[in-house]
Amino acid sequence: METKIVKLECGDGILSPEDKAALKEAGEVLKKGGLVAFPTETVYGLGGDAFNKASSQKIYAAKGRPSDNPLIVHICRFEDIYQIASWVPGEAERIARAFWPGPLTMILPKSDLVPRETTGGLDTVAVRMPSHPAARELIACAGGFVAAPSANTSGKPSPAAAQYVVEDMLGKIDMIVDGGQVGIGLESTIIDLTVSPPQILRPGYVTREMLEKVLGTVEEDAVLLSGDSKKPPRAPGMKYRHYAPRGELTIVQGPQEEVVRYINSRAAKEKAEGEKVGVIATKEALSLYRADVVKSVGSRRDEEEIARHLYNILREFDREAVTKIYSEGFSSRGFGQAIMNRLLKAAGYRVVELKEGTENI
Ligand code: TXA
Ligand code: MG
Repeated sequence: METKIVKLECGDGILSPEDKAALKEAGEVLKKGGLVAFPTETVYGLGGDAFNKASSQKIYAAKGRPSDNPLIVHICRFEDIYQIASWVPGEAERIARAFWPGPLTMILPKSDLVPRETTGGLDTVAVRMPSHPAARELIACAGGFVAAPSANTSGKPSPAAAQYVVEDMLGKIDMIVDGGQVGIGLESTIIDLTVSPPQILRPGYVTREMLEKVLGTVEEDAVLLSGDSKKPPRAPGMKYRHYAPRGELTIVQGPQEEVVRYINSRAAKEKAEGEKVGVIATKEALSLYRADVVKSVGSRRDEEEIARHLYNILREFDREAVTKIYSEGFSSRGFGQAIMNRLLKAAGYRVVELKEGTENI
């Protein structure tokens, strides 16, 4: 299949007339059952008509994704939620007022309009109203209901820039709307409102603290930060190996000096064994590492910068055929929880904890 690529002039700002024309064309493709990748403020989505079973099946095929992993339905007007959810509790209205449009997805009981092909066989539906202007225009042009998982091949890091969508989806879908680099870089927070108290199934930019200010008590899916739980996660997609680079990733946590010493010593040893070693470093420690490839993920003090760069860096390491990767660990408070959640999954929960002043190596 030939994939048409259209580049937006707006980035994530105001749409130009040409941008609007391109998004109208993309909307027509969706209405006819085709697939279009598009930017959102979190990551790129791979869109299809949410009410068209065949479109949802095509999304699974293009991603190589297991079909028990439900898709998020994207809307552009709050009132459209009443068409896809059979019940909308007051909590949904309250958090929509606080965080929509934006990086928050709600799980609600689904209406009969939404086919099970879109919800991975579940009786619930995930709903999100993105804030990216191109995403909103596209959803409106497509008729209001766009099912979209992240636009990556299943298992790979989600694309935070159009070039990575091209890498995974060229020849597999009808169109790619190129809006450059997205703003947040990690997928939306998912909150399940079908349980009481509401439960966070995937951490993201909208944090537990932010949600609790609006809703009162909010719980977290117990398996979010631990890899060893025997229980399956409640968002089916969280159980799959995810975000994983090809090289073996290890997170090293502890006092900065010990982390640098440990990583440099491992890197020297592994290099001698013929491995190509990469390091994910904070800006502050960048110059201290000795390895084949050392990349800055951003300042330790700026979680938004770290989130925006993380997936791109994992993809760059793939391209550079790095076989062993070491990453510094990050605080898992607030938005940091989302960063650590993705990093831990990318590392298959391989973590080395170092202590002050001990012989660690
Ligand atoms: O930021 C985002 O949410 C991006 C952009 C494109 O909007 N989308 C995204 O979609 O990350 P995806 O399909 O890659 O991740 C959706 C997650 C999966 O883990 C899936 O299992 C979960 O949402 N999910 C979807 N519907 C669900 C449901 N009814 N119940 C529980 N989990 C659900
Ligand atoms: Mg995904």
